[in-house]
Amino acid sequence: MTSQDSSMKAGSRLRDKVSIVTGAGAGIGQAVAQVAVAEGARVALFDINGAAVAEAADQFGSETAVSFQVDVSSADDIDRAVSATVKQFGRVDVLFNVAGIQDQMMPTEELKENLWNRVFDINVRGTTLVMERVLREMLAAGRGAIVNTSSTASLIAGGGGVAYTASKGAVASLTRQVAYEVADRGIRVNAIAPGATQTNIMANSAGILGAEANDLGPQSKRFTEQAYARATSEGTIPLGRFAAPEEIAKAAVFLASDDASYIVGATLVVDGGLTIM
Ligand SMILES: NC(=O)c1ccc[n+]([C@@H]2O[C@H](COP(=O)([O-])OP(=O)(O)OC[C@H]3O[C@@H](n4cnc5c(N)ncnc54)[C@H](O)[C@@H]3O)[C@@H](O)[C@H]2O)c1
Repeated sequence: MTSQDSSMKAGSRLRDKVSIVTGAGAGIGQAVAQVAVAEGARVALFDINGAAVAEAADQFGSETAVSFQVDVSSADDIDRAVSATVKQFGRVDVLFNVAGIQDQMMPTEELKENLWNRVFDINVRGTTLVMERVLREMLAAGRGAIVNTSSTASLIAGGGGVAYTASKGAVASLTRQVAYEVADRGIRVNAIAPGATQTNIMANSAGILGAEANDLGPQSKRFTEQAYARATSEGTIPLGRFAAPEEIAKAAVFLASDDASYIVGATLVVDGGLTIM
């Protein structure tokens, strides 16, 4: 059976769990929303691209999904959307913190402070701000599960530029810290570290970063070409291919489910073997 054949098979891992998915407008976040719904969840879809999540929510139907335009670097946006989610569905059981951007392989010698700040604002501060607001709900309820999104860039060089790589290392370490803080109050916090996954992250991120992202120097271009060549050359990924977003989503849904009841503070690598090479 191929991954596609089994990807949307109905299950009950998240039956009746109210789940927030950030970055649900595209790529891995969109796949997380699909797998979560297939596993019985009701979902609140957050994305800076409001039209994309509105369309996804329409497809799931109003009993199952709501959507909000949310920039995860805005505490006001997050507060408004989490409050509306609780009003609509009564609680928050699961948070999938997926929203993130690439830094266009910006190397240290071509550092642009604005790009560094925006990458950290979204990938690190945004991940933390959403947890902070959602934890208020989860701590009051005494239960919950959070899955953050790190990357194999947190483990090996060359998967991003200096800002992206550092930001994904930060996501893995802040996941351990928050997990430690709340584990004895019924909340599990973990992360996934996807390897190369078939999404449009470079183009989507360039759109969010704006003109400055297209104005990086020659080293950024060289590292982009090298990363692409490495990722697509035979033998680099033991499995021999990129991940489909659904394959990453299933690992995230597993971590959020009771099947992962004794997993706390972990960063689960889902990379087709990339980092064992
Ligand atoms: N694609 C890969 O190879 C890969 C590998 C490792 C980790 N990741 C991580 O997975 C996550 C999802 O990446 P993807 O490949 O699906 O990218 P994507 O660009 O396809 O999707 C990301 C989504 O996040 C949204 N987003 C971006 N900034 C936001 C903000 N400030 N507020 C709210 N939403 C925002 C985008 O609009 C988009 O819909 C990211 O955190 C990324 O770093 C991706």
